[in-house]
Amino acid sequence: MMTQASPTGSTPRRIVIDTDPGQDDAVAILLALASPELKVEAITTVAGNVPVALTTKNACALLELAGRRDIPVFEGAARPLHRAPISAEHVHGETGMAGANLPPPKLRPQAIDAATHLIDLLRREPAGTITLVCLGPMTNLALALTHAPDIVSRIAQIVAMGGAQREGGNITPTAEFNFFVDPHAARIVMRSGVPITLLPLDVTHRAIATPARLKPIAAIGSRVTDMVVRMLGAEDRFEKLKYGWEGGALHDPLTIGFLLRPDLFSGRTCNVDVEVDAPLCLGQSIVDLWAVTDRVPNALWINDVQADAFYSLLTERLALLD
Ligand code: BDR
Ligand code: CA
Repeated sequence: MMTQASPTGSTPRRIVIDTDPGQDDAVAILLALASPELKVEAITTVAGNVPVALTTKNACALLELAGRRDIPVFEGAARPLHRAPISAEHVHGETGMAGANLPPPKLRPQAIDAATHLIDLLRREPAGTITLVCLGPMTNLALALTHAPDIVSRIAQIVAMGGAQREGGNITPTAEFNFFVDPHAARIVMRSGVPITLLPLDVTHRAIATPARLKPIAAIGSRVTDMVVRMLGAEDRFEKLKYGWEGGALHDPLTIGFLLRPDLFSGRTCNVDVEVDAPLCLGQSIVDLWAVTDRVPNALWINDVQADAFYSLLTERLALLD
């Protein structure tokens, strides 16, 4: 098992968050906005938990809540590369952020689409200065990589929530939602050659939003934390009802947690590929944990987290927002 070194230096790491908010996406965005180690350059949206018009609206509403209208939003793909859209209203509600109850945003997305913006940004900025944080299906990134392969060497790294091995699947018995919705995109990204860190269900299922962990967040009593607790603490949370857990898994915020405190996480560098053909295994992440093939390692596969320390960090940072 290995742990990555902590990022050092006072210059904030520049990130683009590609996302489908999404209750847990929302918390990830807020955690990033509250963290001085990170500079959110843009938010790009994609169809996933709900259709893209709603994920875009939710991203805009979150930026307004956080008083960050300066961050541009770029709307992305309305459907996966080759498959019909699949959404997760059964988890996140019809709006995608059940419980948030945010007012309709005035902020509007930019005129150009997400993939075009990613290409433009990566070509314009010095190579190795932009990190991509992927919290939904990887359609936008796959489109960008396909249309502009030259950006591969310009991306500092990708940190993505996706995949599962030990935990099985959460949308089929074998697949995690983000990989299942657009397996072809996930395969393009995994095979792209960009350094990738994956936060799969194997780790996110170890960071449950239990009442004990939400209590200090609720005690802050701000607009932001009230909203977070309304979303995460609801009695009808999917994983509470379906799995009998004390709370839901807080998947996407672990990507930001990893950027802030990689020392809290552990995992293994190995090859990860994505199944796109087999009907029973569509979207399954194929993780060569024990190097039984000669496929070249392409990812840091995270499989554990010091969950209480992560929730302490989340609480401390959310307290910085109004
Ligand atoms: C992933 O699927 C979505 O429902 C969540 O937002 C997260 O990105 C977990 O499988
Ligand atoms: Ca998501």
